[in-house]
Amino acid sequence: MNQQLEMPPAYYIITYGCQMNVRDSEIMSGLMEAMGYCATDKPEDASVIMFNTCSVRHSAENKVYGKLGEIGVLKRHNPELIIAFGGCMAQLPEVQARLKRMGVDVVFGTHNLHELPYLIEQAKQTHKPVFQVWDKEGEVEESLPSVRQAGISAFVNIMYGCNNFCSYCIVPYTRGRERSRRSSDILKEVRELAGQGYREVTLLGQNVNSYGKGLDEKTDFADLLEMTASVEGIDRVRFTTSHPKDMSNKLIETIADNPVICEHIHVPLQSGSNRILQRMNRGYTREHYLELTSQMRERIPGVAITSDLIVGFPGEQEEDFADTLDMVTKVRFDAAFTFMYSVRRGTRAAEFTEQIALETKKERLSELNLVQYRIAKEINQSLEGQVEEVLVEGPSKTDKSKLTSRTRTNRIVIISGSNDLIGRIIPVRITQGKTFSLFGEVMNE
Ligand code: SAH
Ligand code: SF4
Ligand code: F3S
Repeated sequence: MNQQLEMPPAYYIITYGCQMNVRDSEIMSGLMEAMGYCATDKPEDASVIMFNTCSVRHSAENKVYGKLGEIGVLKRHNPELIIAFGGCMAQLPEVQARLKRMGVDVVFGTHNLHELPYLIEQAKQTHKPVFQVWDKEGEVEESLPSVRQAGISAFVNIMYGCNNFCSYCIVPYTRGRERSRRSSDILKEVRELAGQGYREVTLLGQNVNSYGKGLDEKTDFADLLEMTASVEGIDRVRFTTSHPKDMSNKLIETIADNPVICEHIHVPLQSGSNRILQRMNRGYTREHYLELTSQMRERIPGVAITSDLIVGFPGEQEEDFADTLDMVTKVRFDAAFTFMYSVRRGTRAAEFTEQIALETKKERLSELNLVQYRIAKEINQSLEGQVEEVLVEGPSKTDKSKLTSRTRTNRIVIISGSNDLIGRIIPVRITQGKTFSLFGEVMNE
């Protein structure tokens, strides 16, 4: 008998973008496994291949189209193969139009992920493309199945969507309006994770500082952090992303006082120029940001402050860019993601006339990176000789004979040691600080 016939059908997921998508892919896995599919890491063995996409920058979209072309070749050999396309790109009408021409079988959006099994079945039965993308968010869906990837650290969504409409950003259009999950639902999930052996959770939202708005209960983000940190078995709580305009004193005090909450705050500055910040619709000034970060440093000893920065926003003059460099040297970010502004159709900034030439954007990006990388390296080198408490995550991606671990401040530390250390929190002495990571040695306990 053909052994293939006895095997359950397999699915393969390709995930792009932020942690929200990583989390959504875990739910997609859960939905597929509930339908009797099993995961495969070989696309050629799959009967369903799913794309979970990101549209935050043009380059993100290009990667997806490239991969789609590659996967399309498999369909020529296997006409029964179902290609399903979801995530942020799927929400955009111009993308949907292009997908219609590309032989995709199922298109689903960020708001109707839960319909995936039904849509796949429909495509299989009708042999016709099924395009079903909800324009608007529905109720927050609780209790969808999910298959989580790592065994030590888990992402937990606390809210969906975004109301900020920064003028460059597509996310409010692809993820809809901001809505928070009830704290009881979040804590139930965290308790279950602790029961399964997870030791660290990262609370996720586009703007966690505005958590709780619109809920019946009176819980703000600081309260939620506190409650999450008190779940038995959870030793570390992280969160991302913070918006400078909504960061409260209470939150800073909570992080300072609670030993389970890690002292790392990702609080994107985007630009150091007040004029550009205003055009970006960010709702704060450089002065406010400086005050905020100095308060963090004062109240939370050793805190790591990380950021996102954009160069070449429409109308950015040399002096605006100089303001960004100035802020980078003043704040001294422990790390920063740096981007060239990318036009997103449908956003306000796409209509701005003073678009910056690509060459200028490239020059500014490399100048910014030079400064930021130097600072990151200096900070990491200053840690040499110090003892850091790390959570050991697993084998290092670059060198399988080593282990990768993470400090409370979210720095990667490469160590040597046995696999028994995985999942444990241990002290290590830092032996070398590099730009993006540290090396350390396990201390004799
Ligand atoms: N909600 C988070 C993250 C949003 S997307 C936040 O507000 O911080 C992650 C980052 O991508 C943003 O912080 C921003 O720096 C960058 N980004 C978003 N839209 C962009 C665009 N059109 N061009 C370049 N970078 C962009
Ligand atoms: Fe985009 Fe701004 Fe919302 Fe972040 S806060 S997701 S940058 S609109
Ligand atoms: Fe990308 Fe959507 Fe996240 S646009 S960054 S996957 S919210």
